[in-house]
Amino acid sequence: MHHFAYRRGASNQNVLHAEEVDLADLAGRVGTPFYCYSTATLERHYRVFAEAFDGMPGTLVCYSVKANSNLGVLATLARAGAGMDVVSEGELRRALAVKVAPEKIVFSGVGKTRDEMAFALDRGIFAFNVESEPELRALSEVAVAKGQMALIAIRVNPDVDAKTHHKIATGKAENKFGVPFAEALPLYGLARELPNIEAAGVHMHIGSQITDLTPFRNAFALLKELVGDLRAGGFAIDFVNLGGGLGIPYRDDQPAPPLPSDYAKLVREVIGNLGLRLLFEPGRMITGNAGILVSRVLYVKRGAAKTFTIIDAAMNDLLRPTLYEAHHEILPVVAPEPGTPTIVTDVAGPVCETGDYLALGRTLPELHSGDLIAVMTVGAYGAVLASEYNSRLLVPEVLVAGNRHAVTRPRPSYNDMLEAERLPDWL
Ligand code: LLP
Repeated sequence: MHHFAYRRGASNQNVLHAEEVDLADLAGRVGTPFYCYSTATLERHYRVFAEAFDGMPGTLVCYSVKANSNLGVLATLARAGAGMDVVSEGELRRALAVKVAPEKIVFSGVGKTRDEMAFALDRGIFAFNVESEPELRALSEVAVAKGQMALIAIRVNPDVDAKTHHKIATGKAENKFGVPFAEALPLYGLARELPNIEAAGVHMHIGSQITDLTPFRNAFALLKELVGDLRAGGFAIDFVNLGGGLGIPYRDDQPAPPLPSDYAKLVREVIGNLGLRLLFEPGRMITGNAGILVSRVLYVKRGAAKTFTIIDAAMNDLLRPTLYEAHHEILPVVAPEPGTPTIVTDVAGPVCETGDYLALGRTLPELHSGDLIAVMTVGAYGAVLASEYNSRLLVPEVLVAGNRHAVTRPRPSYNDMLEAERLPDWL
């Protein structure tokens, strides 16, 4: 469910709108390409996820900042009540900048530096998700040096198959994440010995874009067992962090993934009665279909074997199609007249790479130079993965709320791009 729909626009044509904002009009003001996010969709997704756990006191939903770290998006979610899951000092600073209470922030990631640990301890975040023994020792040392306690959850790797794209599965033994199940108990033992560490939680995150509840069920069952073993061993475990990973619909011709309510039902069933505080780190589920990428057709190029629709957005603006073979629906911003012929086309950008495409062999209504298109469901892992590759300007981001819009990340100028670098004094 999202708030991008065709409505009669200023031109009296049927135009795709973000809430009440005419996207053709917005493209005229902002220029293309640009990302556009819907406040109503962000708020709705946060609410639906959080409300699925109503009646489970203390539940904390920490939006996973990596999915979309635009300050406008973060501020919207913070205002809705979200905590945040961060993986770097940069993300932590973003969360703090939009006034998320530090006690609603968790810090994940396999490679936290000592400086990052110190920064997070100083700010008083809720907990660290610890991923290895050397990290645990480093955190203890940093906490001792600061005279502060570090509350932690150890991330366990349950070795379950999340049945998702191999580049976004994290819960298999061969993935770099977490500690093997068998090593979890000894590591909690070490945590008990180490000064200034309080191990009160267990963390798990098995992958992203998971569209079947079975891997979650298997992982949660293992987690339950571990909590039992830990408690039997005298560890006071009072929270579990179940990570993120719930998939979202990317295409209409495939069955819809489970709803947050289905996921919550499973959580209640498997670990609802252990008297544990529950934490979650959803990313994609909150922002995924709250964002689109608007782009303009430059040329329609008829090759020997294929038709290429060359647009002004490219792989540097949206990496998912080429990196994960991801499918994103593409809609014309102005709805085609009934009877408009369709074409089968690759939709590609100006970047000099064969892998630069946003869609392959896609059936679309016939498009012409100057037409606007919208690439759907790119609110998660879209703009955050953008780069300046081919010295293209970083893509801007716009947040819409009702009939208002704000450019929350302006398009830089070419001067900005060049001034970010320095020539060495010998040149
Ligand atoms: N927690 C941890 C520890 C994570 O590593 C992740 C995602 C999340 C939470 C949020 O997961 P979500 O609810 O969004 O599935 N760039 C890839 C996805 C990478 C996911 C990385 N970790 C993509 O575009 O599909």
